[in-house]
Amino acid sequence: MKNFRSKVVVITGAASGIGRALALQLDRQDAVLALVDRDTSALAALNDATGHRHLTQELDVADRKAVYQFAARVSTELGGADVVINNAGVAVSQTIADLDYDDFEWLFNINFWGMVYGTKAFLPQLLNKPEAAIINVSSLFGLLSIPTQGAYNASKFAIRGFTEALQAELKRTKITAHSVHPGGIRTNIARNARLYQAPGGITGSQAGVDLFSRISFTDAEKAASILLDGIQRKRSRILIGPDAFALDLVQRLFPKYYTDAFSLLERLINRLEPSSKVDKHITKITQA
Ligand SMILES: NC(=O)c1ccc[n+]([C@@H]2O[C@H](COP(=O)([O-])OP(=O)(O)OC[C@H]3O[C@@H](n4cnc5c(N)ncnc54)[C@H](O)[C@@H]3O)[C@@H](O)[C@H]2O)c1
Repeated sequence: MKNFRSKVVVITGAASGIGRALALQLDRQDAVLALVDRDTSALAALNDATGHRHLTQELDVADRKAVYQFAARVSTELGGADVVINNAGVAVSQTIADLDYDDFEWLFNINFWGMVYGTKAFLPQLLNKPEAAIINVSSLFGLLSIPTQGAYNASKFAIRGFTEALQAELKRTKITAHSVHPGGIRTNIARNARLYQAPGGITGSQAGVDLFSRISFTDAEKAASILLDGIQRKRSRILIGPDAFALDLVQRLFPKYYTDAFSLLERLINRLEPSSKVDKHITKITQA
């Protein structure tokens, strides 16, 4: 895809983080946007920030019927999508032993099923276009697994598996399919997450948010520009951030042993804590 001018681009989870940065950059590139999110006030603020009147709608991507109704609206009002970016996602941080099924299903309904609905609902429209793209946002954690991210890892590996099958199926069409693997990006994902336990023995949601901010190396604007560049270059797998490249390499070189390295990483995380006393810090937070 040479450029996004006049292309109808659907973005889920557009009100914050990577989705918001994508919307603002695509607006500057004269794309026609169809933006959805659960957070309607942030979505309205985004539309104001663009200075244009893009199509916006409150949508829960886990609601299959609502996703198909939205696809019909994009077809009727905008002539169908050229690009669909299934970006909406949430995180849960908990060991598998203590993982609650409600949290597991909440995450899978959004991250995995939301991506499936967004893909299948819009595929007929994409197939009608002279060139089109479908982009599914997985994660670095769709390439390797870490403790406390079992649910998130499973959903993001599933997105990669689904998208790679789609790539093979679409080989003879004009549609490109891309799986996106960001490392740590400075967004609201940790604030919007259900955080119970994190690597390094960290518990409590504020401590989890603090940990996430220490290990996020890339801002959302940079992530969005790398993602858009990857679509234009027809990259089937788009890695974002130095941590994504480095840890992808570790996982390729040591596929059987990389999980052992996490005890070392946990010690490093504890060192990164300014007080070096994560537990005391958490006790303070939970007592406050
Ligand atoms: N931030 C990171 O470090 C990182 C790393 C790898 C992958 N990702 C992935 O990038 C994507 C974007 O995340 P982000 O970091 O910008 O997070 P974010 O929390 O800043 O933005 C996510 C957006 O998705 C929306 N959303 C959540 N559930 C929804 C639902 N059911 N229906 C519609 N919208 C919903 C939220 O309201 C929010 O606006 C996610 O799929 C996430 O898993 C993020």
